[in-house]
Amino acid sequence: MLMLSIKESAVASSFSIQRASGSPSRMATAAALYARVKGDIPQIEWASFADDAEAIERLKVERGAIVLAHNYQTPEIFHGVADIVGDSLALAREAAETDADVIVLAGVHFMAETAKILNPTKTVLIPDALAGCSLADSITAADVRGLRQAHPGVPIITYVNTSAEVKAESDICCTSGNARKIVEALGLPRVIMIPDKYLAANIAKETGVEVITWDGACEVHERFTPSDIAQYREAMPGVVVLAHPECPPEVVAASDFSGSTAAMADYVSERKPPQAVLITECSMADNVAALNPQTRFLRPCNLCPHMKRITLKGIRHALETMTVAVEVDPLIAARARAAVDAMLAI
Ligand code: 13P
Ligand code: SF4
Repeated sequence: MLMLSIKESAVASSFSIQRASGSPSRMATAAALYARVKGDIPQIEWASFADDAEAIERLKVERGAIVLAHNYQTPEIFHGVADIVGDSLALAREAAETDADVIVLAGVHFMAETAKILNPTKTVLIPDALAGCSLADSITAADVRGLRQAHPGVPIITYVNTSAEVKAESDICCTSGNARKIVEALGLPRVIMIPDKYLAANIAKETGVEVITWDGACEVHERFTPSDIAQYREAMPGVVVLAHPECPPEVVAASDFSGSTAAMADYVSERKPPQAVLITECSMADNVAALNPQTRFLRPCNLCPHMKRITLKGIRHALETMTVAVEVDPLIAARARAAVDAMLAI
């Protein structure tokens, strides 16, 4: 299952790896690493990644580190060096439970910050501190205080794609994987769900609850339109269309299924549709396709520029230099943690 799959220890392949000159153990490591990615990356391409991937494996042992990678990471990270892969919810859960000394978060800044909030005594590294998110950038803590004042008594559900300061002003967090469940668990006729106006509209439609929201959007998912979906259906008749709930409601309505990145991956691995298209960030289809050879994918490509700031070289550098370590003001972290813990409890 993709949501939280701890990588099986890779089996050494009999394939001979050109870069693996040197000791037999180095050659075994290189072969084992290639075995993880060979469904996805031709050997000739892997040659440009092998050196960094081997260094990362060695550094993980030396530093007592694990690499948590989001489903949007490129295949050489996702299949090659990640210990845990998943959606935002799975990464938060794993960050809360790991006993590793160091967490390298191969994802965007709010994910690393969430890991630090849940694990204040651990070192949490992000390979590129500028890996942001258009949703997180759309709202400030002062904005949340303004909403609370404008709607006294209405609970504030905050998407994890936000800063620690924004979480700290909230009652409870949610991810795309549990937003519906959280709204239903509150059992109220009216809630505030911020900052993604599309996620909020999709959840309002699903639950019948009145949802007050904010004018934020994901710059990747808001680009999809119903006419894109019509074109995919025409190009590949019978294709199953799976859309992320950060897409506009009319895109979700034109799709066959909507769910978090993990839910989409699970749908493909469990139902094995002959043809599918994932209406989300484009590395996702590469990663899911490698695990599901039975399904043919249409691969429209909307890249998340923030996710793509994370590279193998960046992960290696983070482990070599132990930078960039994510820090959160302890008072803010404690309040943000209460909102994240409330979510994890549900
Ligand atoms: P998921 O929680 O579904 O993985 O989504 C995170 C994200 O940033 C989607 O754009
Ligand atoms: Fe943020 Fe969208 Fe990128 Fe996800 S895909 S990190 S929501 S900008």
